[in-house]
Amino acid sequence: MERSIDRRNTVLEMDRWKFYWLTHRYHDIANPISSQGLDVIVEALRPPAGGRVLDIASGKAEVLCRLSERYGVSGVGVDWSPFFCGEATQNIRSRGLADKIVIHQMDGKDFRATDSSFEVTMCLGATWVFGGLRGTLKQLSQWTRPGGAVVVGEPFWTAEPPAEYLESESISRDDYSDHAGNVAAGESLGLDLVFTVASNADDWDRYYSPTWLAAYDYIRDHPDDADNTEIARLTEHARSVYLKHGRNCLNWAIYVFRKPSGHAA
Ligand SMILES: C[S@@+](CC[C@H](N)C(=O)[O-])C[C@H]1O[C@@H](n2cnc3c(N)ncnc32)[C@H](O)[C@@H]1O
Repeated sequence: MERSIDRRNTVLEMDRWKFYWLTHRYHDIANPISSQGLDVIVEALRPPAGGRVLDIASGKAEVLCRLSERYGVSGVGVDWSPFFCGEATQNIRSRGLADKIVIHQMDGKDFRATDSSFEVTMCLGATWVFGGLRGTLKQLSQWTRPGGAVVVGEPFWTAEPPAEYLESESISRDDYSDHAGNVAAGESLGLDLVFTVASNADDWDRYYSPTWLAAYDYIRDHPDDADNTEIARLTEHARSVYLKHGRNCLNWAIYVFRKPSGHAA
């Protein structure tokens, strides 16, 4: 098995898309936000009927489906995982949205929009695609029509992270900002923050716990899978780091910015 590097530079001794697929089998939304929290964001966005929405790192297309069901908008989703794209396509078909939403399986950084007329552009939980929060806001803003929404999901520090945590996650203190710093990143690009929903400890537990359950269920149900030792190692590492440190110093929020009318990105 070729070694695989994930976004945090963790070396995986197995296919990373397989690992993320099997640990997120029980999720519709692969982020620490509740279903109700996501509905609050969907209600706030209010794109006009007939509008277009772009979601980079669209996962199982749950957000695109909810927006299309609520407002009749059409959507473009981009995700690199063949597993998530397959599940997204099933989700879209089962909800009768195949004529509304299209999914491209590719690296988000290689996506090229043919125009910049999207009412809403999003990247929830994958700002590494464009080199971080600022790069993501800048790129999404270029694809958004004046007056439209640029929506990002991003972690933020709630306390100083211990060195042991940074080391075990292969991240640096400067990889993330605090809550106000995330807002300032958008404002520095001329965007106005119009809405935000931050996660709570319950949201985090409900995000992480099903990943552990899904991993251990997978190992139990596929006893001959050659990746089981690595699946257990990665899961135990993620669980202990979250319980010891992540839960105490890192939070996550969705930020809805508006691109002012007449704004040149
Ligand atoms: C934390 S999940 C978020 C998924 C989705 N936005 C949601 O909220 O359910 C991160 C997603 O990013 C995708 N991804 C990772 N690297 C990517 C890349 N370079 N280009 C496109 N998608 C990527 C993964 O396959 C996964 O679906």
